[in-house]
Amino acid sequence: MTNASRPKPVKSPRSLISMSQVPETLPASNDPCWCGSSRKYKRCCKGTEGRIQPGIVSPMRYVPDTIGKPPYAATGVPPRNEESRVKSPEIIERMRVAGVAAAEILRRAGEMVRPGITTDEIDIFVHDLTLEMGGYPSPLNYHGYPKSVCTSVNEVICHGIPDNRVLLDGDIIDIDVTIYLNGVHGDTNASFAVGTISEEDKNLIKVTEECMWLGIEAVKPGVALNEIGRAIEVHAKKHKYGVVRAFIGHGIGENFHTDIQVLHYYDPRNTMILREGMTFTIEPMITASGETRHKMWDDDWTAVTADGSRTAQFEHTLVVTADGYEILTGGNGAVSPCAPWKR
Ligand code: MF3
Ligand code: CO
Ligand code: CO
Repeated sequence: MTNASRPKPVKSPRSLISMSQVPETLPASNDPCWCGSSRKYKRCCKGTEGRIQPGIVSPMRYVPDTIGKPPYAATGVPPRNEESRVKSPEIIERMRVAGVAAAEILRRAGEMVRPGITTDEIDIFVHDLTLEMGGYPSPLNYHGYPKSVCTSVNEVICHGIPDNRVLLDGDIIDIDVTIYLNGVHGDTNASFAVGTISEEDKNLIKVTEECMWLGIEAVKPGVALNEIGRAIEVHAKKHKYGVVRAFIGHGIGENFHTDIQVLHYYDPRNTMILREGMTFTIEPMITASGETRHKMWDDDWTAVTADGSRTAQFEHTLVVTADGYEILTGGNGAVSPCAPWKR
């Protein structure tokens, strides 16, 4: 990566205004905004208070040439090469190795989570540990993504870019780790509590993980892909939660995202039949309010819930086996408090 292609730090006008400057008594909607912008409050800061604001993104981190890199590492553009949906035993074996590495990085990144650290510090940790394991952090420069991990806080659904924002007591954060190791990707994420969180947020995180497992347990050869989404949606609805529609699970292997599309809600058209050897992710994003739509920040990555409601996510990479599934991003190191064998 040359300096010229390094992204500029992302700054928004308000990124340096801390929430402590928000006055105790807020203006009426049509009155001038408290921030001094001379715009109406409702057209200015109203609706952003209590929301995550874009912070400052540090420069892209360096990866030495001794590390095997995916083709997009240099260009930012993933190649459009097809790969078989059903993988050879040899590829599956390599994916097991990448998967276990991803799971360990995720667990250790999760152990760092506490009030006072920045998401940039989590990125540095994930980046360095990935290299130490001999892998490449798959997000880095994927379609130009500027960091080595995704950190999605509170109402951020996914693809949050690590920055200088400090995690606060009571936040929830999803960390999404993907490693490219020996020519294949392993992709896994989990949501974590920052310090002490509310009972509502605890329940959101618990039910989201249950949703993922219920989707996973629907997997076996001969079953239609939409049974995964059906299982997830039924469980979310039981809790009056929403399933985010725009972001889906995906085929994975030598490419980060391949053509299998795993919707997390029931779609009668999603009828592809699962076959032994297929590898894909299941990664539901669940909202506390029941909201299913998202909005995109100006950075074109950060997706937030349309209504600002909090959201959680869990993800595993798996392979369809003769009689069900095998989690590739599992193992003893994996973060899975609600795994079926623990329920
Ligand atoms: N890991 C994410 C997924 O589960 C993808 C991140 S793409 C990135 O599909 F470019 F944002 F890294
Ligand atoms: Co994924
Ligand atoms: Co992921």
